Amino acid sequence: MPYADLREFLNRLEASGKLHRITNPVDKDWEIAAVSRTVFESISETQRPALLFERVKGFEIPVVAGVLGASRSIYCLALECELKDVPKKWGEAELRPIPPRRLSDGPVHENILLGEKADLTFLPIPTWTVGKDPAPYITSGYIITADPGSRIRNVGTYRLQLKGPRKLGLFINYLQGGRLHVEKNNKLGQPTPVAIVVGADPAVGLVSVSRLPQDMDELAVAGGLRGEALDVVRCRSIDLEVPATAEIVIEGVIRANELESEGPFGEYTGYMGPKAMSYIVDVQCITHRSRPIFQAFLSQMPPSESSCIRSIGREATLYKHLVEDLGLPVGGVHLLETSGAAAYLVISIKKSHPVQPRTVMCGAWSFAPQFGKITVVVDDDIDIRDINAVNWALSFRVQPEKDIVLMPGMAAVSLDPSQAPAEVPQEDMSRRVSSKIGIDATRKHAFPDVAVPPGEHLELVRKNWKKYGFRENII
Ligand SMILES: Cc1cc2nc3c(=O)[nH]c(=O)nc-3n(C[C@H](O)[C@H](O)[C@H](O)COP(=O)(O)O)c2cc1C
Repeated sequence: MPYADLREFLNRLEASGKLHRITNPVDKDWEIAAVSRTVFESISETQRPALLFERVKGFEIPVVAGVLGASRSIYCLALECELKDVPKKWGEAELRPIPPRRLSDGPVHENILLGEKADLTFLPIPTWTVGKDPAPYITSGYIITADPGSRIRNVGTYRLQLKGPRKLGLFINYLQGGRLHVEKNNKLGQPTPVAIVVGADPAVGLVSVSRLPQDMDELAVAGGLRGEALDVVRCRSIDLEVPATAEIVIEGVIRANELESEGPFGEYTGYMGPKAMSYIVDVQCITHRSRPIFQAFLSQMPPSESSCIRSIGREATLYKHLVEDLGLPVGGVHLLETSGAAAYLVISIKKSHPVQPRTVMCGAWSFAPQFGKITVVVDDDIDIRDINAVNWALSFRVQPEKDIVLMPGMAAVSLDPSQAPAEVPQEDMSRRVSSKIGIDATRKHAFPDVAVPPGEHLELVRKNWKKYGFRENII
């Protein structure tokens, strides 16, 4: 059964011991970020809970963080499947999207603040990298726009700087779905209607942070993930639809052909992202449920919630592309979280022909041009999640002269600080074009046997582990 809304999902997290309530009042301007960071640094990934800050000083609205990606198991609860089934679940949702069902009204319209009343300052928007970010940021907006021609919808998560009671700065990097819509409208000289959803059924959040083909309605893919149509209602001031059970929706327009300085912002790479000339959103209306919940994503230094959700969703859609669309013998893909789930990609294959490693690299780079600045292809005996195993393949299955491909003129990893000095603005072309390195770390000829004791001997020792004076059993 799909979740009806964020609230039902939070109940599920709590019942699974994966939600930690913070009942002491917290300051949104430093404490939410500091507590979230400390939780990520101090609690191991498998134990890490999502956080519910019940009382935020000076605000009526609680804040949740980590609810989609404090850990892989939380992500799986959101998707309602086992980790091993994540690629299949995404693949099926893309193959069989379910269009949303339009309702005439829904809980998100329990409170409607139109025009002058649409004042963002009642929302507990946290400040994240205190002393470096210029203002509070909404980090988990699910930003809905529509193509002005086809009306196909895009949902994407892009950072939003609070600039005034009814004004937001919106950074959408090049190559993103939402940006194409704004650029098309800009050519027509017209503003872009935008609906910013804060807090919703987890399926909406999961499509929002995942790269999906531009011709797909991402709310229909959310329906595919849920196995049931998502209920939507029409916005009050613009012609867009939003989830009927969303917590908060900010309706507005992106000004046509106008940009303003935005940022810097503590980014998913672990560094401050540079200032950018970004879009300006004029807020026209805010609608929200009674007693709404404000959702935030923790980004900054990986691992973070951002790198967790990016890695799982991106791996799933890339795997589907390589295996189902291109028919390549790929066993698995791993976008390392330490690389922000973007820069470093490892792919395993069951190789039957020498051209396959490079074919796989090209397939990955063409599907997701910004990912895999460093791409390593290994044989399927290598566990791609074990960095030691990957380094072993790199060490002894590679001849640099023959097995390394350098591809100049490729898309840069978004916000990669090695592209240009910090003072170079985000929109400078030097930040967009990069090169890639592909390393074929598969065996190219018959290799000697691996040098470890026979499997049956190791098995016997494991069975009798305590006999050797060790106290704990080993797996
Ligand atoms: C926490 C978080 C923050 C993000 N912030 C931005 C951002 O500010 N700008 C941007 O272009 N992409 C950002 N992304 C990445 C996009 O959400 C992601 O690439 C997504 O696929 C975009 O949707 P689209 O492919 O429909 O454009 C962010 C992702 C996460 C998880």
